[in-house]
Parts: sequence; structure tokens; C-alpha cells
Amino acid sequence: MNAARIDVHLDEAAAGRSLRAEAAAGLTAARRTLSSMWLYDARGSELFEAITRLPEYYPTRAERAALNRAAVDIAEIVEADTLIELGSGAAEKTRLLLDAMGKQGALRRFVPFDVSAAALRGSAADIAADYPDLEVHGIVGDFTRHLHTLPGGGRRLLAFLGGTIGNLLPAERAAFLAEARQALQPGEWLLLGTDLVKPEATLIAAYDDAQGVTAEFNRNVLRVLNRELAADFDPERFQHVAHWDAEAEWIEMRLRAKSASRVRIAALGLTVDFAEGEELRTEVSAKFRPETVTAELGAAGFRLHRQWTDPDGLFAVSLAEADR
Ligand code: AVJ
Repeated sequence: MNAARIDVHLDEAAAGRSLRAEAAAGLTAARRTLSSMWLYDARGSELFEAITRLPEYYPTRAERAALNRAAVDIAEIVEADTLIELGSGAAEKTRLLLDAMGKQGALRRFVPFDVSAAALRGSAADIAADYPDLEVHGIVGDFTRHLHTLPGGGRRLLAFLGGTIGNLLPAERAAFLAEARQALQPGEWLLLGTDLVKPEATLIAAYDDAQGVTAEFNRNVLRVLNRELAADFDPERFQHVAHWDAEAEWIEMRLRAKSASRVRIAALGLTVDFAEGEELRTEVSAKFRPETVTAELGAAGFRLHRQWTDPDGLFAVSLAEADR
């Protein structure tokens, strides 16, 4: 039996402190906001997995199609012995890379990294069971704070798939890419998945599906606040909104108060009044153009080696080398 090792860098006390600090600031700001990181408790991670199977949610399938085209080439270009995957979640698409890298021959270690301990333990154990010769070393952490904990040595490919980089605001994105560059040695590799700009109707459908799974995923963040901060949000009094910001080229998920409501957040000693129609932003999901991905990588010290998309051009995966 091949067992996975798991290191936990995101202890519950620290996560609780950052949730409290962020909720206190975000819920009292003129434009109310929460970081999308809080969407992913165990139920949120399950709901997200359900989203990836929805007919309207094209990114997962499109990225898989792009990786299908790219995986063998990626394995041959990078010749890496370690695959690190940030935000690995259920690590489904990872298998495409692991299989290609295994065939190429250098692969010996897989390092899944995720904010959800539950999702990570499950996927690390599954991969360890299915790849008996692979050393599996999972890390529970926040990829905006714990990249310095990545294990070194060997020749590494750092994969950040799913378009999750789009959940960072532009300044956070630049900081993240700079930290990823810091965590890598010259000549090591970054594989970045980015959703691409496309017609608004396609985007809105993907973030406001007919079955209401995304709405439930969005409202789940209020259940997280109720549980973690002893708040008394009534999730049913908030409507899911998907908004396309054409200027910033990102989707926003918001929760809109259906009627005026007063919410008590006991753990913060805070009362927040929502006017009817007032919105709380719970996520941004930026959409990219191939050339802006190249430029942002370049600014952080990465040289784009090659970019692939799915046949329909919906989603891109970019392979970049840390500058020498
Ligand atoms: C975490 C980047 C894959 O932004 O599309 C899905 C999360 N939010 N539906 C995205 C999400 C709403 C998702 N990723």
C-alpha cells in the first residue's frame, strides 16, 4: 500500500484568524466583499465538483481537452521528476499529466497542494493507490501565503490549473506569480490554466446554471460564516448573481439581499445591515487573452515556452520556464 504523506500549514486557528479579519473588513466596506477562498469548506468543495459536471460549465471540460492535446509535449519538454499541483481539489486532470510524465520516465513525486484538507486527503490517497511507485506528499495550505513550504530538490513542474489564478485580483495575481517564481529555481517550469474571454452569454450561463448548483455553491459561503463566526445569515434571503464586468474582463459572483435584513455576526461583535438589493461580492473570476497571459508571466520572471487551447479556443494552458 502506497501511503501519502500530508503536511498541514493551514492550521484551523490561523484560518480562523484570517477569516475573522477578512470578514470584519469585507462586510463593513462600502462595497461588501469576501474572498472566494471561503467558498471551499467540505460542502463547498463538493458543490464545486458538481459544478464541473454541469452542461453550462465549460472550463473543466475545455481545460481537459487542452491538456489532452498538450500532456505528452509538456512531459517531453519539462522532463520533470516532481509535479506540484496547486489547488488540486479532486486532482482529476492531474492524471493526464501524471500519465504522460510517467511515460516520459523522469517522474517520481507528486505534491498536491490545496486549501481544503478534506479534498486533499481524498485525492492524495486516491493518487497514491493508483500510482504505486509515486511518492505522494500533500500540502494543506493557502497558495497566496505558503508557496515557500513547497518541497525542493529535483526538477519540478508547478501546475496551477482550473483557471483558479482568475480568482485573484490583478495585484494579488502579480504577487502570486512573483512568489511562484521565487519558489522555483531557474529552468524549472510553471503550467498555468486560464479561462479565456468569450461572449458574455456563454460566461453568464457557466456561472448561473439552470439547476442552481452555482447559486447553492455561492450561498454556501453564508453557511460557512454562520458556522465559523456564529453569524445568523438566512441564505434563502440572498439571491445568486453572476455579473460580467466588461471593463475588467471578469465574472463576479455576488449575493443580493432579496429584502432588507439585519445580520448579527456574534464572533465579531458586529451587526451588518443589508438594504434591499444590496450585494456582497463573493468571487471574481478573471478571463484572459493569450497575449496578456504571456505578458503577466514575463513581468514575473517567466518566459512563455508554449501555449495550447482546446479545439474551441475556450481555455488556455501556458507552459513557462523560470528565467535563468
Ligand atoms: C475555482 C476557478 C475553477 O472561477 O470558474 C465555479 C470557481 N466559481 N463557478 C471559477 C467557480 C463559480 C472556479 N475556479
